[in-house]
Amino acid sequence: MLNRYRTIAFFALALAAATGMLLRFGLVLGMPAWAQNYTAIRHAHSHLMYFGWVTVALMALIWHFLPTITGRPLPRGVHLQMAASALVALLSFPAFWLNGYGPTQVGSTELPLGSMAAGLNGLLWLLFVALYVRATWGLPERPLVIQLWDWAIVLLLFAFSGALGLVVTVALRLTNPLLQQLSLHLFLDLFGVGWFNLALLGILWALLGEEIAKQQWLPTQSLALLLAPTFILGVSPALVTADMFWLAAFANVGAALLLGRHWWALWRQRSRLPLLTRFGLLILAVHLFTAAVILWPGIWQWSAGTQLRIFFLHDFLLGWVSSTLLGILLKPENKPTSLGEGYVAFAWMGGVAVMLLALLGVSLLQFNPIPAVTWFWLAAWSSIPLATVALWACATQLQRS
Ligand code: HEM
Repeated sequence: MLNRYRTIAFFALALAAATGMLLRFGLVLGMPAWAQNYTAIRHAHSHLMYFGWVTVALMALIWHFLPTITGRPLPRGVHLQMAASALVALLSFPAFWLNGYGPTQVGSTELPLGSMAAGLNGLLWLLFVALYVRATWGLPERPLVIQLWDWAIVLLLFAFSGALGLVVTVALRLTNPLLQQLSLHLFLDLFGVGWFNLALLGILWALLGEEIAKQQWLPTQSLALLLAPTFILGVSPALVTADMFWLAAFANVGAALLLGRHWWALWRQRSRLPLLTRFGLLILAVHLFTAAVILWPGIWQWSAGTQLRIFFLHDFLLGWVSSTLLGILLKPENKPTSLGEGYVAFAWMGGVAVMLLALLGVSLLQFNPIPAVTWFWLAAWSSIPLATVALWACATQLQRS
């Protein structure tokens, strides 16, 4: 099963990365005539990355490792759930491309295709959760990996309530900005920071083996509880009260410290991890370090007026989550890296490093003498190796299977 869904996840990564490249060049040269709706295409990019790339890959890896950990076969229905999840995730791309979350004319009626696609994806997450609960119900003990996945799923459900909120606000045409922003960030931010983070940590510990994890204290529940309120930091500062902000900012620092505990334990095992996964860990370290910066008075409010959100999003989603997943999916058996694979890994790492530098440069324009257009060009060129590596991963996987 892993082979089939790895190919689909790589296909989604390649398509979404090529779309990201189109957007990056569009920002300097203008969008081409056949792709005029920038916001809708940005939604198509981000949703395909979330649903088709990361979520399909995480679910396939969880199902891959679960039977060894529980000693039980996978429940019936897993193949159906994976096929449906992958199909609906891929369909979200054309659904968002046309009009984003807005209504699209279909025949004589108008349909919110993007919201419908997000809702359908959400329903299939519920099916995944139900099957996971069945597969792990009544285990005599819940080892670290299972605990991490349990909490990843709790936060996935929490994020799903945000997706529902979004669908309701669009369907009922509600215009309350706080409700809209809370739903959007509960969904988009907690989906990444909660579900992606904890599921990925579980997969890394499954890859390394429970024995090593058992030798030390590693947080699960406390980490999940601290991650939960951090989505508030994504909401516009004009809508967030001081109390809400401080709650989220301190929870964010606490979560960074607990993630740092996992980071240190994983880093000590780095020789057993694929090269790209080690790179992902380094980027995570940068991300954790910046958590404390938000506590500095005024920084968060100021940052909302800059491009820092796009930098942080890609630092986390591209640098940490995607590099780590790519490393694991290309080498789940952790065989030695061949020369060709080494070049590919360096092309990816180089592309990520330059893109993150360019996104940081654009965000901190007032502190550096380099003009914005140079940073935007750099970000655009750096997207080429990333889209190429994603395409290479998809083609190589197709050849193997
Ligand atoms: C492969 C290289 C990538 C490129 C070239 C790229 C490019 C872009 C661009 C140009 C934007 C819009 C920025 C703006 O409007 O200022 C964007 C936004 C975004 N991207 Fe990416 N991206 C990449 C990877 C990823 C990955 C791996 C993920 C998630 C797993 C991701 C998730 C997002 C999200 C969530 C947004 C914000 C969407 C919104 O605010 O509506 N991107 N990306």
